[in-house]
Amino acid sequence: MSFTDSPAPAFPFSTTGCPMDPPALATELREERPVTRVTLWDGSRPWLVTRHADIRQALRDPRLSSDVRRHGFPFLSAAQSEAIGEALITFIRMDPPEHTAQRRMLTQEFIVKRMESMRSEIDTTVDALLDRMMAGGAPADLMEAFALPLPSLVICRMLGVPYEDHAYFQTRSQLVQDTTAAPEEVNTALGELAVYLDRLAGEKASEPVDDLISRLVVEQEIPGHLTRHEVAGMALNLLIAGHETTANQIALSVLALQRHPEQWAKLCEHPDLVPAAVEELLRHQSIVPTGLQRVAGEDLEIGGTAIRAGEGVLLQIGAANRDPRAFTDPDRLDVERNAHRHMAFGFGVHQCLGQPLARIELQSALTALVRRLPGLRIAKPLEELDFRHGGNIYGLFSLPVEW
Ligand code: HEM
Repeated sequence: MSFTDSPAPAFPFSTTGCPMDPPALATELREERPVTRVTLWDGSRPWLVTRHADIRQALRDPRLSSDVRRHGFPFLSAAQSEAIGEALITFIRMDPPEHTAQRRMLTQEFIVKRMESMRSEIDTTVDALLDRMMAGGAPADLMEAFALPLPSLVICRMLGVPYEDHAYFQTRSQLVQDTTAAPEEVNTALGELAVYLDRLAGEKASEPVDDLISRLVVEQEIPGHLTRHEVAGMALNLLIAGHETTANQIALSVLALQRHPEQWAKLCEHPDLVPAAVEELLRHQSIVPTGLQRVAGEDLEIGGTAIRAGEGVLLQIGAANRDPRAFTDPDRLDVERNAHRHMAFGFGVHQCLGQPLARIELQSALTALVRRLPGLRIAKPLEELDFRHGGNIYGLFSLPVEW
């Protein structure tokens, strides 16, 4: 189907074509109608923005709000709309100055210097996971054996969440991000996660240790800057944001490189190219299929189109990262490209807080894979791989590999 058939096509777009590329319709719209209406599940018609320059400008504009409590916020499913419980709204869904105050409580936790001090521990975790996967013999599921446990172990350690409980929160956090799940199921999962983290914060309050949740309790809850419930909400957001994202980015990166064997070979020969490759892979492979959600707080203009206060706006960073106006020959994967202007981590005040950590994890994972498993191959054809469609995070449920 071509976009010309519909003045406001249904969104999210169905994924026809190569699952490693943005939907064809998003690409068409970026070229022909870069700011256009789309139709959501509830019949509402927010704007979809697909060009790099327009999204950058929009993300700098304080009139565009991230506040889910504002009328007109573009929820992507009934589950997402109903599951936004007051207590679990944290700064990612707030505007300044509320956003600034909460984000500031965590900035010290994620500064580059602190993250760099974790690099050698992350390298050790990477090696231990690969040792175990390789000892089990090929084929193995790279997602289960490596891509998921790595960020999960790291964020658990940072927060002070027992990793033994990962199956409990992983299944629930996957459900929370599944836009096709029933609202009741999502609410139950969110409630259970909130209770779990609430209880954990309670334990830390009686016996604080050197971890992020303890610091939130001691420095923010006890002096009265946050309630216990807000501490649990913040921890929950970090737990979800901290592992599903990086895990899927690792898996998609490996798959993309395997589909461009000359790029994989280049990295095996020159592992010093890994940091540049990570930026290029973040650009080329988008794990945020639906884009960033905003609502206009006041009348404004994006790319010459008038947006009225109260109208929803979806900023599709995946399409922007393949915009030929921003990147030469954008569909080509080139690990030597200078891709630093990509928007995989967003832009503006909400730009990803965890990006220094994500970068270290991605660099460490890829360096170890090209060094230790240069003969890595995907064990199934692309059509048989289990892609994760229909959620807020795109990726793979499993990735069978051989070496
Ligand atoms: C490859 C991995 C990751 C990607 C692609 C990614 C992507 C993003 C994007 C696009 C945003 C902006 C959302 C918006 O503007 O509405 C964001 C925000 C955020 N991310 Fe990440 N993220 C990743 C990893 C992480 C990790 C590892 C953490 C924490 C441990 C994290 C924590 C956050 C937080 C707390 C925010 C909200 C920031 C704010 O609103 O001020 N992310 N992320």
